[in-house]
Amino acid sequence: MMAKIIGGYFTSHVPGIGGAIMRGDQETPYWKPFFAGFPPIREWLAEARPDVAVVFSNDHGLNFFLDKMPTFAVGAAPSYDNADEGWGLPVYKSFEGHPALSWHLIDSLVRDEFDITTCQKMLVDHAVSIPFELAYPGVESWPLKLIPLAINTVQYPLPSPKRCLALGRAVHRALQSWGGDERILICGTGGLSHQLDGPRAGFMNPDYDMFCLDNLAANPDALTGHTAEQVAELAGTQGVEILNWIAARGAMGDVPLAEVSRNYHIPISNTAAASLLLEPA
Ligand code: DHB
Ligand code: FE
Repeated sequence: MMAKIIGGYFTSHVPGIGGAIMRGDQETPYWKPFFAGFPPIREWLAEARPDVAVVFSNDHGLNFFLDKMPTFAVGAAPSYDNADEGWGLPVYKSFEGHPALSWHLIDSLVRDEFDITTCQKMLVDHAVSIPFELAYPGVESWPLKLIPLAINTVQYPLPSPKRCLALGRAVHRALQSWGGDERILICGTGGLSHQLDGPRAGFMNPDYDMFCLDNLAANPDALTGHTAEQVAELAGTQGVEILNWIAARGAMGDVPLAEVSRNYHIPISNTAAASLLLEPA
């Protein structure tokens, strides 16, 4: 009996996607090229039937505001309610947690010298709910349990890409030493390049996005050649959400990965939007 990491699901989490779903705009010219990325992901998930999702994302001011900002936070709650931090989105379904596996992860990470924040109460915002609305449209309840990990991509100083990849690899080691038989899906949300405010608002960088998409599976260490500040320069100040993808990639382990599907489309709102599904080769 051993838990199995069955794949990695990566997607942008632009809140406007929630509005498009609400209005039924999936087939309109603006949205169609983005939603086109999801049928293969849904088909794969229907077949792969994950029991637990370990989700790397960033909190957008819902749990942690600028006065208290953990670099890395791990959820250990029995359940996670959604709330809208101000986008006018519907309140989405709650997730069931997996406290035993959360505490195993937390224990293992701290032994591994990651000084994380543990959260026995935690809300999830659009960065968690939108990716699952995309993956499991219209379901009555989520078919899998959630373990959320929040990375500070919001306020200086940010963790480095190198540290985020190392965190992910430590999560991988923790999952390998877990005695359960769960089928585990790793998720990374956010990105790709975008900047929402300041003089560079609207900035996107397809060259850097392609560099990330092309290297994430086979050579994730290539993404750690930049500092967090350089990533902000390259990807935009919100494009640093690629840190969530880097950590999630680390959690898949250093095994050969196959690309099941990839989609990239500019723009969705202010974002170069992407989805990517990887599985062990
Ligand atoms: C947008 C993108 C995000 O990642 C986010 O958290 C909020 C807004 C956008 O492009 O509109
Ligand atoms: Fe975001």
